[in-house]
Amino acid sequence: MSYWKEKLKISNLEFPRFLGAPLDGVTDSPFRQLVRKFSKEELLYTEMRHVNCVSSQKGGHKAVQFEQFERPLNYQFAANSVDLVDKACEKVLEKGVDCVDLNVGCPARHLISSGSGSALMDDVPRLKKILQSFREKLKDLPFTVKIRAGFKKENSVEVAKLAQDCGADAIAIHPRLQTQKFQGIPDYSLAANLKKELSIPVMVSGEIVDFNSAKMVYEQTGVDGFLIGRGMWSKPWKLKELREHSLGNDFKVDKGTILQCALGHLDNLVDFYGNDGVYSFRKHVPFYVKGMPLASKLKELIFSSTDLKEIKKGLKDFLGS
Ligand SMILES: Cc1cc2nc3c(=O)[nH]c(=O)nc-3n(C[C@H](O)[C@H](O)[C@H](O)COP(=O)(O)O)c2cc1C
Repeated sequence: MSYWKEKLKISNLEFPRFLGAPLDGVTDSPFRQLVRKFSKEELLYTEMRHVNCVSSQKGGHKAVQFEQFERPLNYQFAANSVDLVDKACEKVLEKGVDCVDLNVGCPARHLISSGSGSALMDDVPRLKKILQSFREKLKDLPFTVKIRAGFKKENSVEVAKLAQDCGADAIAIHPRLQTQKFQGIPDYSLAANLKKELSIPVMVSGEIVDFNSAKMVYEQTGVDGFLIGRGMWSKPWKLKELREHSLGNDFKVDKGTILQCALGHLDNLVDFYGNDGVYSFRKHVPFYVKGMPLASKLKELIFSSTDLKEIKKGLKDFLGS
């Protein structure tokens, strides 16, 4: 069978090769619900949530608020110590997820200042304890780890091997250093190295936006799966498009589908965040109408209005014509 027809295997689970990457504030529950209208089987990462937040009375409830039909879900944690790993995992396992991921790649200052995210790549002994603690708590539940090229200097093979030795079932690499954040060309040769050095599946994240880019990265690296991040922003059909194109099938969306997605997204955001959903929608609109003539007029309206009816009318007038 061809590589593209075969599934990605993570422990005892199988998924199509294209996965929804975690994008904090973007691939949230309202968005994942839309993705499920197109793609039922693909594994979707949740946005990263710190074990301190998940286990607390205050933020904990919102952090595990999602619908069961969003599954299969890979719940992503951040952590800077073994404290609270058990408690946070219990909350998430109670709710029901398919996989748990540890974020060892986030470059954000507020996170690395507490020793979480990509800072863990620079503190291997502490990372080891955290990995062991997750593995022990999760028992047989599939456990994955998302890393970067390194913190200030490259050490991806060392960290990925450690994760494998501690019982991780798969590794995803975003092959840029913490210092590069989300800029520059990802160094896919690092994913190829991991593929050679590890026995568990390796997935890659970074600038995969269509089937041609996925195919090019597969040919360079031999990886098992692809995390789709910004390429999916306001394109809930993206995983479906990639899957169809990888199987040699046509797939295109028309303006009517874009309109239905934008309206559905707005409704989901308001259901989830209340009135704040209208503000949250503002960051998604430019991506829905990117490249369309006169889109600036619609953006002006949406950025100045908080009236749901008016915003919906604006979308219908613009995309429905
Ligand atoms: C707005 C934004 C939020 C992100 N949030 C997370 C996150 O919560 N957890 C994580 O592991 N990576 C996060 N990332 C990194 C992405 O998952 C991905 O690795 C990176 O954007 C490169 O892939 P892309 O080019 O497909 O976007 C985020 C990236 C962006 C741009």
